[in-house]
Amino acid sequence: MRLDGLNTTLLLAPRAEGLPEIVHWGARIPDGADGLRDRARANNLLDDDIAEASLFPTVGTGLFRSPALVAHRAGRDWSAAFTEVEYDGALRIAACDSAARLRLVLDISLPSDGDVLSMRATLSNEGDTPLAIDHLASGAVRMPPEATELRTYGGRWAHEFTEAATTLHDGSLLLENRRGRTSHDRFPLLVGTTAGCGEAVGTAWGVHLGWSGNSRIVADRLGDGSLLALTGELLVAGEVELAAGESLTTPALYAGWSDAGMAGLSRAFHAYARAHLLQMPATPRLVTLNTWEGTYFAHDEARLMREATAAAALGIERFVLDDGWMPARDHDHAGLGDWTVDPAKYPNGLGPLARHVTGLNMQFGLWVEPEMANPDSVALRDHPEAALSVAGRERRLSRHQLVLDLAEPAVWSRVHAALDKLLRELPIGYLKWDMNRDLVAAGDAAGRPAYRAQVHATYALMDRLRADHPALEIESCASGGARADWGVLARTQRVWTSDCNDALERLRIQRGAARLLPPEVMGSHVAASPNHQTGRRHTLAFRAAVAMLCHLGVELDPLELTDAETEELGGWIALHKRLRPVLHAGRHVAADAVDGRTLTGVVSDTHAVYLVAQEVAPARPHPAPLRLPGLLADARYRLRIPPPQRPIAAASYGHRALYGEGVVHAGGTLAHAGFGPPPLRPETALILELTREG
Ligand code: GLA
Repeated sequence: MRLDGLNTTLLLAPRAEGLPEIVHWGARIPDGADGLRDRARANNLLDDDIAEASLFPTVGTGLFRSPALVAHRAGRDWSAAFTEVEYDGALRIAACDSAARLRLVLDISLPSDGDVLSMRATLSNEGDTPLAIDHLASGAVRMPPEATELRTYGGRWAHEFTEAATTLHDGSLLLENRRGRTSHDRFPLLVGTTAGCGEAVGTAWGVHLGWSGNSRIVADRLGDGSLLALTGELLVAGEVELAAGESLTTPALYAGWSDAGMAGLSRAFHAYARAHLLQMPATPRLVTLNTWEGTYFAHDEARLMREATAAAALGIERFVLDDGWMPARDHDHAGLGDWTVDPAKYPNGLGPLARHVTGLNMQFGLWVEPEMANPDSVALRDHPEAALSVAGRERRLSRHQLVLDLAEPAVWSRVHAALDKLLRELPIGYLKWDMNRDLVAAGDAAGRPAYRAQVHATYALMDRLRADHPALEIESCASGGARADWGVLARTQRVWTSDCNDALERLRIQRGAARLLPPEVMGSHVAASPNHQTGRRHTLAFRAAVAMLCHLGVELDPLELTDAETEELGGWIALHKRLRPVLHAGRHVAADAVDGRTLTGVVSDTHAVYLVAQEVAPARPHPAPLRLPGLLADARYRLRIPPPQRPIAAASYGHRALYGEGVVHAGGTLAHAGFGPPPLRPETALILELTREG
């Protein structure tokens, strides 16, 4: 029993009793792979041959690793074992445990156009008493013993997606997130790789949970050295109880594979997201001005109008009014939750500003944070019961705010009505949807845990608004990248990758995020220098080059730019717009760092764009040859360093040509021999543009 992707095979071995075993997940193998599961038996084990690499390990089957299901009926029926198994094509496995009266359906899909599979589980209570579920995994994937390195993507606020590698000789690696949102520190992505896997060489197996709440990935080293990565939503005690006849369906697990290094794994994930997940915007991704760092809470309608005029002159296409437009919202202590317009800042509402923006041919976007309220707000003063809490426990504030119980229909309806009214009354094409705190003791009115209900209610709110306003685009922000998983990405068009706009930090953050997220959904902004998060100073060229490869935005007050900066930034925006068709649809490539110099790029059949960044001062006197991955060996390409980039005064003649009409080389020459790039100072970067000439 098998599923085949483009370069991948998932081979399952049905067993006489029980759910199938994962025999292989990796490189595509020829048909007729029978016999692969014959195993030598060791002493001192169960007499029956128990396959450890089960798609869905359970307690009652003689497996000793983490179970995919933890459930019981008042302390009974705790040992599930699904023995009556039916296969429906290659995609659906239905199984029953008639002793515990449970039915399980596993839906697995591996589209033939790529190398990412998805899996979800549905468990039904076929008994006549309630079933308490403490854990239900979406499923498991098996990585072979050669997957010796395990990479995680953690960090903190403004320091997300930090890739770190560890090894696991024995036992388990547990990646649990209990923050109620996807989180900055435990992003639900685990990548197993062969030792020393680089950007272009090595094999990588990655597993991700498409879910914006609590999650759990446990990787167990099995008896043969393989690794079973069991992945699913994390439930807190009492969170799910199925009445007789009820079912629970998990979020989807996504698993990608590549034998072309980490960049190959990114390509597999990006291709899947583009073909099967993302709801693409109707237009090219609009260059955005976000008002946050340029304005913060100090909204001045007349000045914002002048900013919008200046933004339009720069070539900006969308103006997003960030936090601060609601009554009493002069700081983050008050006003959150009241989705009306501050009459002091906007005496005639937001209409004049919004119409000024659309009159400049830009789209108008608005910041909201629908799941939240300050205690100092009309919303919570009128309905103090609307915040998630547990009776007798202190309500923990974070950023001076509480989380609303969105799963409570009255609360959901009030928030929905307020947002819907704004969308009907104003020409809003875009919502920046923020979510600025973790959930702590998130109990509903009945005192039951409400973590997963909250995620579903948020999804439902997004879905409903998009159904009623089909042209609306949504950006998923959670203090930067704390909600950037594929669950939310299936209903949004962009993620705010990080609150850190420092270009040097962004190189690392974007490298980690790009393992899973295609560049066109990753918001990246040119911000002011010195940087507001780190205090570092960077040239405009460095800031713009680093933001260029993602979904470009500007987050500064354009009225504060000098004439020279205005001209240069306009040049970068024009360059981004010209290259956008390649940047937002091409194939991701990357190279390992050489002497502090990194390279990322996007390649199509006719074009290529590379970002070359000198992240730290080079230790050697001469730059190493720069090799460009992903080109067609026999095709000829014109290589340029396009304007507004300028040669430094001392550039040699060859380098001057690169800044002018360019040089022409075969793809194979550029890929293998490389060329001598201009020397780069630390914390500077170049954008290279290649156009195929034959
Ligand atoms: C969060 C977001 C920022 C900004 C502020 C506004 O921190 O990540 O981009 O929108 O909230 O309060």
